[in-house]
Amino acid sequence: MTIAGKASGSPLVEVESLSQFFPLIGGVLQRTIGQVKAVDDVSFTIRRGETLGLVGESGCGKTTVGRTLLRLIDPTGGKIVFDGTDITNLSGRKLGPFRRRMQIIFQDPYASLDPRAQIGSSIAEGLRVHGMGSAQEQRNRVARIMELVGLQPYHARRYPHEFSGGQRQRIGIARALVLEPDLVVCDEPVSALDVSIQAQVLNLLRGLQQEFGLTYLFVAHNMGVVEHISDRVAVMYLGGIAELADAKEMYRVPLHPYTIALLSAVPVSSPRERDTRKRIILMGDVPSPVNPPSGCRFHTRCWLRTQLDNPERCETERPELRVIEDFPDHQVACHFAERLVPGADRDRMIDASAQVSSARATSDEEASGPTTAPAPDSGGLFGGQGADVPDEEGQARV
Ligand SMILES: Nc1ncnc2c1ncn2[C@@H]1O[C@H](COP(=O)(O)OP(=O)(O)OP(=O)(O)O)[C@@H](O)[C@H]1O
Ligand code: SF4
Ligand SMILES: [Mg+2]
Repeated sequence: MTIAGKASGSPLVEVESLSQFFPLIGGVLQRTIGQVKAVDDVSFTIRRGETLGLVGESGCGKTTVGRTLLRLIDPTGGKIVFDGTDITNLSGRKLGPFRRRMQIIFQDPYASLDPRAQIGSSIAEGLRVHGMGSAQEQRNRVARIMELVGLQPYHARRYPHEFSGGQRQRIGIARALVLEPDLVVCDEPVSALDVSIQAQVLNLLRGLQQEFGLTYLFVAHNMGVVEHISDRVAVMYLGGIAELADAKEMYRVPLHPYTIALLSAVPVSSPRERDTRKRIILMGDVPSPVNPPSGCRFHTRCWLRTQLDNPERCETERPELRVIEDFPDHQVACHFAERLVPGADRDRMIDASAQVSSARATSDEEASGPTTAPAPDSGGLFGGQGADVPDEEGQARV
């Protein structure tokens, strides 16, 4: 399917105002003393055959979105529609067929493999659970999927510890795909792999998507990975979606101040680009999802708000994810996103914020001595050393 075809594809998944709050247990009596608002009022669709990238800092709620939409955990609120059926409150036998059609690939497949089971048996597990085919048919299906993911027939008799990281991820992919799902949530499937292996596994996922017409929700820290595999990208911040756009457009013209800051920190290999880039460093830590900021959740760290003299609305009214005029494939959760459409105003404000960041970085460096800059190819957005790790003064460098 072409990108244009995917863009106009009908939705396979529709998520409306999804929330997932976990109880916060504490005190001597181990009672519920609060709630972790891991996902709060998130809406998006995933179109048939597309890859929707989901990117954000650690703890922003990416895995929780994936697990909740697969109904591995019950949502606190909102609605999940899969292929036209509202599955939000389905359970037991009614949910069973949908479970088969929605699978997940984990970052660490080793953790989900039984160390005492031969991998042929592990791959067949889902077939047994869902009663798909006779024993012979199941063996045939396992053999076929193993071949498709690049495993040898004799691997079926081996145990998980006998495989490398990349091979284990191929086993994880085989376990998910043997059930012939429609949707696969890929939860950081290459983050734990060596860079050289990452590309092979990504190419495998892409090939399998084309062969089987799969739809992916692809979760990642690394903006570089997301850019290359996604048709559209959603950027999450503290339990909500800050920006959702066509992947190419997102990278060309990010419109949310958070995304602009994130992309300003993606390592670039060209020395000239490195010299001319306008890097915006966000101040402060990501607030706690137990007690998130009022209004716009990003307001405590927002450089645009500072440039606009701190409008009160940012603190009092949560911005909804909305389409911006002239950018029909682009949704942004910012009251003032129009100020960031390409033009003199955008350039001036980005320049001013980059200058503030640069002055701050220089004074920090003078105070603490020289630091080692992350290598230009150290992995992208949140990946690699030094990317968005709060430093000792609580400044998150993105
Ligand atoms: N079962 C749980 N009980 C309580 N809190 C939870 C639970 N699962 C997740 N959380 C909290 O919810 C928030 C979102 O977690 P989640 O794992 O979805 O983030 P993430 O974006 O996937 O992070 P990472 O990139 O580190 O995988 C975090 O604050 C996390 O501590
Ligand atoms: S609504 Fe205000 S605080 Fe939030 S991103 Fe926009 S300018 Fe920043
Ligand atoms: Mg996660």
